[in-house]
Amino acid sequence: MNNGSVIELENVSKDYRRGSETVHALRDVSLAVTPGEYVAVVGHSGSGKTTLMNIMGCLDRPSRGRVILDGQEVHEKTEAGLTRLRRSAIGFVFQQFFLIPTLSVLENVSLPSLFVGKPSNGRAGELLEMVGLGNRLHHLPNQLSGGEMQRVAIARSLINAPPILLADEPTGNLDSRNADMIMKIFEQLNQEGVTVVVVTHNQDIVKRCRRKVHIEDGRIET
Ligand SMILES: Nc1ncnc2c1ncn2[C@@H]1O[C@H](COP(=O)(O)OP(=O)(O)OP(=O)(O)O)[C@@H](O)[C@H]1O
Ligand SMILES: [Mg+2]
Repeated sequence: MNNGSVIELENVSKDYRRGSETVHALRDVSLAVTPGEYVAVVGHSGSGKTTLMNIMGCLDRPSRGRVILDGQEVHEKTEAGLTRLRRSAIGFVFQQFFLIPTLSVLENVSLPSLFVGKPSNGRAGELLEMVGLGNRLHHLPNQLSGGEMQRVAIARSLINAPPILLADEPTGNLDSRNADMIMKIFEQLNQEGVTVVVVTHNQDIVKRCRRKVHIEDGRIET
């Protein structure tokens, strides 16, 4: 085992069951991410990228295999313990954003800071400014464009200054100028020591990442 890892997956498989049907979304995947790495995860639609991110981020548990986050065995933790670990360690940008429709942009971004007991509207406003949404603080999510929602989700992922950032297609809805801006923000964070794992089809991002993980049909291709 590599003790220098911030996230480690050992022989991880994930099956989804739908009635009598089983989807083998991940098949015996082993992967170790070291602190300060910037990893791009690439692969076709349906290859298992979101499943991998959900397991790395401890939003979901594997069917088989081990996950070690920040030196801690995930399967030994209770749901509450895992939630605490996740909140302090990980910022997550979801592929479908998952913004809360009844909360304003500013409230959506500050929400995770309430969960850790450090409410910060000030930082939320700064992050929104940083992603170019300083003029949208009091809009509701359904009053935003897709790219704006994506940038709110990115701002929210950073509110608790997580040491690990997991981003699932963070530039999928952005034009090249905004994608470039997000890429620069992620690179800056990485230079400051944040470990970044990003699922992306954006070739500019892939080219600039030091490490590329290619998933095909639930397996890591080497
Ligand atoms: N909750 C679920 N129940 C059943 N099958 C699922 C579930 N989630 C994902 N799958 C299946 O698992 C496989 C991997 O899905 P996943 O979402 O990880 O792919 P992906 O690589 O993220 O694709 P995309 O690029 O389209 O986002 C797919 O075949 C998908 O249909
Ligand atoms: Mg996906």
